[in-house]
Amino acid sequence: MRRAVLVLSLALAASNPTPFTSPILPLTSDNDTPCVAAGTGPGPSRDLYCIDLDPIPALEGVTATFELNRVPSPFGVNVTRDGRQVYAPVLRVTGLPEPAAFSKGARVWVAWMATQQLSLTRKLGVVGNGRFALPTIDWPKFLILITAESGGAVAEPDGKVALRGFSPSSRMQPPDLSEFLYGSAPVSDPAAPGPVAAGADHALHAIAPPPGAATRWIHPPIPAGLAMMPAEMRLPFPKASPFLPLTARAPPVPDVKPREVVHLKDGDTLVLTAGPVRQTVRGHAFIGYGYNGQVPGPLIWASQRSTLHVRYRNRIEWPSTVHWHGVRLDNRFDGAEGLTQDAVPPGGDFDYTVRLPDAGLFWYHPHRRDDILRDLGLYGNLLVTPSHQELGPANREEVLMLDDLELADQGLVPYGAERPTNALMGRFGNVLLVNGRGSWSLDVSRGEVVRFLLTNVANARTFNVSFGGARIKLLGSDLSNFEREEWLESVVVAPAERYLVDVRFAAPGRVAIENRVLAIDHIFGRFFPQVDTLGIVRVQDRPARPDYGAAFGTTREHPGVIAGIDPVRKDFERPPDRSLVVRMEARGLPFVVERFLRIDSIYFHPVEWSGTMPMMNWNSTSSEVQWILEEPGSGRRNMDIRWEFKLGSLVKIRIANLRHTLHAMQHPIHFHGQRFLVLEQNGVRNTNLAWKDTFLLPAGGSADILLEVVNPGTWMAHCHISEHLESGMMLSFTAR
Ligand code: C2O
Ligand code: CU
Repeated sequence: MRRAVLVLSLALAASNPTPFTSPILPLTSDNDTPCVAAGTGPGPSRDLYCIDLDPIPALEGVTATFELNRVPSPFGVNVTRDGRQVYAPVLRVTGLPEPAAFSKGARVWVAWMATQQLSLTRKLGVVGNGRFALPTIDWPKFLILITAESGGAVAEPDGKVALRGFSPSSRMQPPDLSEFLYGSAPVSDPAAPGPVAAGADHALHAIAPPPGAATRWIHPPIPAGLAMMPAEMRLPFPKASPFLPLTARAPPVPDVKPREVVHLKDGDTLVLTAGPVRQTVRGHAFIGYGYNGQVPGPLIWASQRSTLHVRYRNRIEWPSTVHWHGVRLDNRFDGAEGLTQDAVPPGGDFDYTVRLPDAGLFWYHPHRRDDILRDLGLYGNLLVTPSHQELGPANREEVLMLDDLELADQGLVPYGAERPTNALMGRFGNVLLVNGRGSWSLDVSRGEVVRFLLTNVANARTFNVSFGGARIKLLGSDLSNFEREEWLESVVVAPAERYLVDVRFAAPGRVAIENRVLAIDHIFGRFFPQVDTLGIVRVQDRPARPDYGAAFGTTREHPGVIAGIDPVRKDFERPPDRSLVVRMEARGLPFVVERFLRIDSIYFHPVEWSGTMPMMNWNSTSSEVQWILEEPGSGRRNMDIRWEFKLGSLVKIRIANLRHTLHAMQHPIHFHGQRFLVLEQNGVRNTNLAWKDTFLLPAGGSADILLEVVNPGTWMAHCHISEHLESGMMLSFTAR
């Protein structure tokens, strides 16, 4: 292959090729990784995570696969600070001849990664027949080549190409004729778009407040730089009445107050009132909801093994409950509407007794029409100490709740009164919020170590948070610290997950806390970077006192966590006891949406980081879209799944997120009332564990979790994307 390779000084080129890699595969068990046939139940998608390399005709009979393996990570996905997906590739080859027999003078086979245009190449290593663990890769789209070369030291491909294959992401292409045709086709509903007639759906209206007379549908905002198809812009309104709180008949509504910290002792009582509050975000005033007039709700501090009493007063127009997310409390106080209690009617009260067996960072939110109530401000943290055992010192702690809000020029985009809109992907906001505000800032001294306690309360968005270029020390997650502290360039927080990290601000100046992701332009089949500022840390030029720089520089083991996990390690290896697959079914979607989704299903990225098909997503409601957890053996689905587990048992559950569905995407999976470990994802064992109640399952991915069943009662497990939960994606299990 004689050609001039344009060596661009891009950051992509900076990583040096590893000269030689030995055919040793340290991390994968080789059982259920994407290129290898699944042995013990549903596994990861071969189509999304395995590339079959094609030999040139002269090499017929040579087989080669290039596996896009997961890199063990404390998160559901491993990405760079910019949100590029990182893989640990494994190449398997059989049948290659001696290089010289293929090409005169050749002495070695070399594997390369190249851009689709071959404008840039990167050497992956000298290979041959066998199995090779290659250096990690993080290019969004790429081509793999295997060439015959005169020596292993060549810097760029120079010899004959023997095998080649494109990354699955390369299948996303700029528009072809069919897409344009569908894009200009008329929408399936010949009637002019208009609001659904009020009262059209009596049964559902009976459980929803009457739609505010003054509320009209407005279109979701379109992300900058994205083109929409004409037919997309002409989609009818969603099949639901538009809802915003109290627009027509607003009595005086108090302005929202900042979150207060409430210290509660064993036996104390807190009165928690949900009510309307006036909020202003980016200059737009709207009426939302708050607990005790605050957004976020009060930050409750309590001690491990104490018991709190919470008198909940529902003063909003929706029936609601309070769910204590992650807390292993008495079943009857779990707040799971329809399972552990009836919803508290507007004006009603309910007394919760919240037992706190675990230390950690928890949160509370409604468990009914959460897509509206939580999005409008009903969420708060519960911090149970000592959660910081075994951790080094920090100068301060910041408890941040990450969220997003969908604000158009005309104001807040209304919600579906009878059922949620955005049932496809969940409601993505275009304005990112920290603690309910569109702007957040903090002043610190030079060298300060700040401990951030992060909770993602968004309906659908997964965040990839970084702090300028500062390195981040990972400490803990939902119900415990990790076995070992480790360094990160960013923190991936899926909806409902919590992470505990330390960051040291070494140099004076302004540091932006950012969400950096790769978004997908579904029409043009390309990735593009999206960067949003969540907040600013102003580092003053005065030294921090005390200076914890030395302690920050070391990472610790947490022997308590390790010892706590030790008794269950014997259960890591055995086959799963239960399995689930995730799929989606749709009926009655507009023609253009259906056709477009079919075309778009050529590729699914592990995580959809951003809402880049806002019109089609908005248009879909839970009456067209059903999200399904299905048990492969019994064929049971969602709430027809009623698992029975023995108290004191450990249950290994395999969950596979099927790729062959109209729209596959990531799901944050949450189990109520218990805790679990994420043992492996896509067949790759996790090497640093923490007790969790929610984890992220990427598109086409599979995971094995080990659920510790110790808390009696009937509990729920579900996807924490609010609109997926409302579209059916939940099951129940009983522990007795
Ligand atoms: Cu955070 Cu079932 O919920
Ligand atoms: Cu989901």
